[in-house]
Amino acid sequence: MATIHEPVLLREVLQYLDPQPGQNFIDCTFGGGGHSLEILERIKSDGKLVGIDLDPNVIQTSSNKNLILVNDNYRNLKNIYKDLSDDKRIGEISGILLDLGLSSDQLGARSRGFSFQDSGTLDMRYNASSDQMTAADILKKYNQKELFKIFKEYGEEPLAWPIAKKIVSERENGNNIETVESLVEIVEGIYNRHYHSKSKKQPATRVFQALRIEVNDEFGNIHKVLPQAIELLKPGGRLAVISFHSGEDRIIKNYFRDESKQDKPRIKIINKKPVIASDKEGQENPRSRSAKLRVIEKAFISDVGREKHKN
Ligand SMILES: C[S@@+](CC[C@H](N)C(=O)[O-])C[C@H]1O[C@@H](n2cnc3c(N)ncnc32)[C@H](O)[C@@H]1O
Repeated sequence: MATIHEPVLLREVLQYLDPQPGQNFIDCTFGGGGHSLEILERIKSDGKLVGIDLDPNVIQTSSNKNLILVNDNYRNLKNIYKDLSDDKRIGEISGILLDLGLSSDQLGARSRGFSFQDSGTLDMRYNASSDQMTAADILKKYNQKELFKIFKEYGEEPLAWPIAKKIVSERENGNNIETVESLVEIVEGIYNRHYHSKSKKQPATRVFQALRIEVNDEFGNIHKVLPQAIELLKPGGRLAVISFHSGEDRIIKNYFRDESKQDKPRIKIINKKPVIASDKEGQENPRSRSAKLRVIEKAFISDVGREKHKN
């Protein structure tokens, strides 16, 4: 599989998931397969790995008989598993991985509009044949307040309001923002006006991130998948989640905390503080610098009893 994507926190993921021969795993974000291929090495010929990805371009036919590739949204995790298990293609699950966001391959792919360095149409759907709204549709349809909200919440963009205002005023003048170049021009124009200098590097990054999160309902997907992943794990099985955005990490942290504080908690938190990349990895792979890994373990019935006893 031709990929330039470097798997993030690979050593740490393997250490926490600890795949053993004969076990089954699900990688909800297969991407370039960087994590999956290492897990496959460890589960050997008796184990199975289900690799899910929404982007049909990464789902290629595989000659590895232990790898089951599924082109779907991980928010449908329970149904994906049910279909495979009904067909007796997979048994109980020892570990699940989510490595959120997009891969370097997607960021580097021209014509999908993921990056401000790209050119062409603002699409940003992981699955370009789905009927979801594209980034260009959002820039055409959302009102100023709605645009402001996504730039602020998902992009943490300090100039969210003037950027949203400019987009709407351009629209009113008959100029829909449909291309990467036109969006970059608007954001750069606003930055130059506010900071009176061109020194601010790549000011459009945050607006692009915000649009990608909105187009793909990325926060909604995380909310949906976490309870399903916990339900699917066998007792003692582990869920590892890598996020790259403070908003994502907050959803994950809060969900795990709330679950672990239930009367009969279904999970045990393995690392109270998120695992971050080593200095060495940060130098070698800049993408890893914003990564946070959180891991939980599915409780055994006896753990549930013990937790209850403690309270
Ligand atoms: C960061 S990459 C994963 C990289 C992979 N772990 C590796 O090391 O090669 C995230 C992948 O998740 C996929 N993805 C994003 N949202 C998804 C969703 N809701 N359902 C399934 N796949 C999704 C993207 O298409 C992308 O390929």
